Amino acid sequence: MAKATWFILVELLLLQCASYFCISQGYDFFYFVQMWPGSYCDTKRGCCYPSPGKPATNFTIHGLWPHFKNNTVPSNCNEKSHYDGTKILDLFSRMQQSWATLACPRNNGTRFWSHEWEKHGTCSESVLDQHSYFEAALNIKDKVNLLQILEDAGIRPDDKFYKVEDIKEAIKAGTGYNAAIECNSDPSRNAQLYQVYLCVDASGKDLIECPIIPRRKCNPSVQFPIF
Ligand SMILES: *[C@@H]1O[C@H](CO)[C@@H](O)[C@H](O)[C@H]1NC(C)=O
Ligand SMILES: *[C@@H]1O[C@H](CO)[C@@H](O)[C@H](O)[C@H]1NC(C)=O
Ligand SMILES: *[C@@H]1O[C@H](CO)[C@@H](O)[C@H](O)[C@H]1NC(C)=O
Repeated sequence: MAKATWFILVELLLLQCASYFCISQGYDFFYFVQMWPGSYCDTKRGCCYPSPGKPATNFTIHGLWPHFKNNTVPSNCNEKSHYDGTKILDLFSRMQQSWATLACPRNNGTRFWSHEWEKHGTCSESVLDQHSYFEAALNIKDKVNLLQILEDAGIRPDDKFYKVEDIKEAIKAGTGYNAAIECNSDPSRNAQLYQVYLCVDASGKDLIECPIIPRRKCNPSVQFPIF
């Protein structure tokens, strides 16, 4: 009798453990990555405007990427969890505005968003379901009006060159946090401002100082292309 009770207790504890304590979260924080469409397009590869037409002259979201503090990247964490556009119908117009695809051939974004969900989003699914995941990224973008922050510092998409240090300083002043900058090259090999990395806490709500600063290549001075 005592033995049976003991087993039941242990079993209950194990169940508790499974549901509350022992599930590893699968990530520590997010990289929130925005890209400048003018730099994506001004490459040898080029770009295609999505089916709704040319996106606004604005930064667009590349992704919200779970990351570990030991600098490993979880990816494709749940092969059974597929992107389902019907779960985010209410976010669709914001997605088209703020998370536009520029990949060729011209398409409606479904391919890009399902890639982002399946590779990255599934790794934070224990905290953010599909709707919360996409919404979290959209909300952060709205909170951080990156283009405005840069323009307020006199840094404009006018094909001129700007110092990366000045760009970082402007973002720090505008957001309170350090950003990392990634560049790419136009067909004549000029470095241009391509992506901006900020870090977000595991809840997907607030910017944080990056636990690991991503190392991305860039030149001291970069072009900010017209779009
Ligand atoms: C990084 O941390 C995660 C979570 O703690 C762990 O699963 C993974 O094996 C670690 N990777 C390395 C290379 O240490
Ligand atoms: C997007 O395009 C794909 C492939 O052409 C199509 O199957 C899907 O229904 C489209 N989705 C929307 C929301 O228009
Ligand atoms: C650019 O995006 C930000 C953040 O989503 C938004 O607040 C702003 O109105 C947009 N600016 C333009 C010119 O579209």
